[in-house]
Amino acid sequence: MKRFEVTWKRRLNHNMVWLKIYAPLVAKHAKPGQFIILRTDEFGERIPLTMAGHNEEDGTIDLIYAAVGRTTMLMDQLEVGDCFADIVGPLGKPTHMDGLKRVCVVGGGTGNALAYPLACGMHKHGVETVMIAGFKTKDLVILEEEFRAGVDELYVMTDDGSYGEKGFTTAKLEELIQAGEKFDEVIAVGPPMMMKFTCQIAEKYGIHSVASLTAYMIDGTGMCGGCRCKIGGEDKFVCVDGPEFDGALVDWDDLIRRSAYYKDQEAEDRAHVCRLTGGVRYHD
Ligand code: FES
Repeated sequence: MKRFEVTWKRRLNHNMVWLKIYAPLVAKHAKPGQFIILRTDEFGERIPLTMAGHNEEDGTIDLIYAAVGRTTMLMDQLEVGDCFADIVGPLGKPTHMDGLKRVCVVGGGTGNALAYPLACGMHKHGVETVMIAGFKTKDLVILEEEFRAGVDELYVMTDDGSYGEKGFTTAKLEELIQAGEKFDEVIAVGPPMMMKFTCQIAEKYGIHSVASLTAYMIDGTGMCGGCRCKIGGEDKFVCVDGPEFDGALVDWDDLIRRSAYYKDQEAEDRAHVCRLTGGVRYHD
């Protein structure tokens, strides 16, 4: 087996892919909630991805990603036997689990790929875990079977009602709390706006909330400042202080503003990759 070789590939829906990659040193030390930074080739950009799992015996790590940016679209072209140029990790702090008895993990869209190891990791750790997984439509639902096998309770929601229950994850969370469900913690993983409202609902009912943030990263070691975010009025770095933060302390407006910084460049990059790859695989 070659270093950073793709050993397994599965398409989850029209633009989400699950890869297993041979990276024994990373797999040996990985814990739920941690991420890696990879490059597809020596000239490629460095992108962070949270690990969706790892297997120390096989020496593999799992990555689940949506092909929506330059690198992930290129990754979409990789097949079993292809290799990444480099993978650095595990980075970031592992998910905090000790002392928790019952939690609700709320995943939105592609964030469900990151919520998957987190929720299953909680369950494995002996924490009763309720998962609310939200998607726009039926076509975008991923990992349902895996969630069902890995958590205590699962609610699948779609915005348009084409699958599972109709409605937003935030509404389901509030419904469960109002019905008397007790949670030590609510953990939000998904788009910033969805995490903001999820954390606000938890706060409204006096429940501690945690948000798993994603950010633009370069070095992943706290040196470049690329992943700076404001937490409780202080500057923090997602790569070394996170990726999980107290949801009540996140400056959501700052985070949402920063996440739109490179929108134009990203659109250009996508168009470029579309030209290179035949342009058939681009989805917002
Ligand atoms: Fe450079 Fe976090 S990626 S400070």
